[in-house]
Amino acid sequence: MRAAVVRAFGAPESLTVEEQPAPAPRPGEVVAEVLAAGVNYADLLMVAGRYQVKPPLPFVPGLEFCGIVTSAGAGVERWRPGDRVMGAPLAGGCFAERVAASAQHVFPAPESLPTELAAQFVVAYGTACFALKRARLSPGETVLVSGAGGGVGVAAVGVASRMGARVIAAASSADKLRVAVAHGADATVSSTAETLRPAIADLTGGRGVDVVLDTTGGRFFDESLHCLARGGRMLVVGFASGTLPRVPAEYLLLKNLSVIGVGFGGVLAAEPAAVEATLEEALALHAVRPFTAEIAGRFTLEEIPRALRRLADREVVGKQLVLPRL
Ligand SMILES: NC(=O)c1ccc[n+]([C@@H]2O[C@H](COP(=O)([O-])OP(=O)(O)OC[C@H]3O[C@@H](n4cnc5c(N)ncnc54)[C@H](OP(=O)(O)O)[C@@H]3O)[C@@H](O)[C@H]2O)c1
Repeated sequence: MRAAVVRAFGAPESLTVEEQPAPAPRPGEVVAEVLAAGVNYADLLMVAGRYQVKPPLPFVPGLEFCGIVTSAGAGVERWRPGDRVMGAPLAGGCFAERVAASAQHVFPAPESLPTELAAQFVVAYGTACFALKRARLSPGETVLVSGAGGGVGVAAVGVASRMGARVIAAASSADKLRVAVAHGADATVSSTAETLRPAIADLTGGRGVDVVLDTTGGRFFDESLHCLARGGRMLVVGFASGTLPRVPAEYLLLKNLSVIGVGFGGVLAAEPAAVEATLEEALALHAVRPFTAEIAGRFTLEEIPRALRRLADREVVGKQLVLPRL
């Protein structure tokens, strides 16, 4: 099979496409043909050797996929060849024609979920749904989403809107904000403005938002913490800006705020059943009002460096996919 391989940590351009033996399933694993794989910000970090998990070299990146099971290892009862699944193997490997994954890290991809949505459902939609559940979001509350034109951001806008929240999208360009509105945002703010506070005060009658879902960290975190209403919740999802924020504890006390860490990857590793329950909740929202995939580009294995470069340069609106047989 063909696979994109990292032989040394570095820039996206260091990835090469190679012929490799197709994986055979070990006990407890399945092997699937990859129909589409989502490109995540974490792939960029992993290729650079800057992710929490540093895989031994060489490795095939790619954290999530939608595909068809081709074989199942000893002890796997749940999956059979021909099953359509979506999955997030802990070791990555999805930027290839075939991928091996623990049977616990693949989930049913119902017919109602198009392949291009299923290829981003576990990480982007799963994380968004898990995060908003952690915030105990109630219908009628207001949620501010940063990076709202990115992969997790678009998913978070769609999930929050289906949970009955009023959604304010923050992003750095008019195109990203337009996409967020198309996916359910009720209002928008520019994340490049000097300060967010006057715009959020205007949009909330001076009250502030109930929940912030932050994928970027840095200045946005600092600003949006001050945009929370009393009793508000800050969801710490990611640090795409590259700057880790620090929490001023005295301010939390003053306004009864909560800062909530969201680590969906850790849940996948430790409690796959909780991931499946989260995906079922996201699928229940999809059944009532279907999500649509916001596809920013479809790439061959050879074109992955270009996709990763666009992500690093903040050019992506929506989600990029790798189609190994394109
Ligand atoms: N905690 C979890 O379980 C979990 C799960 C999945 C992802 N994540 C994290 O969530 C974040 C978003 O992931 P994603 O896959 O949705 O990424 P993405 O599609 O690239 O979106 C990230 C967004 O961050 C914004 N951004 C701000 N500064 C940036 C910079 N210097 N470089 C690149 N982007 C910048 C961009 O929006 P603007 O240009 O509009 O600012 C961009 O749209 C990442 O930090 C990722 O690691 C966490």
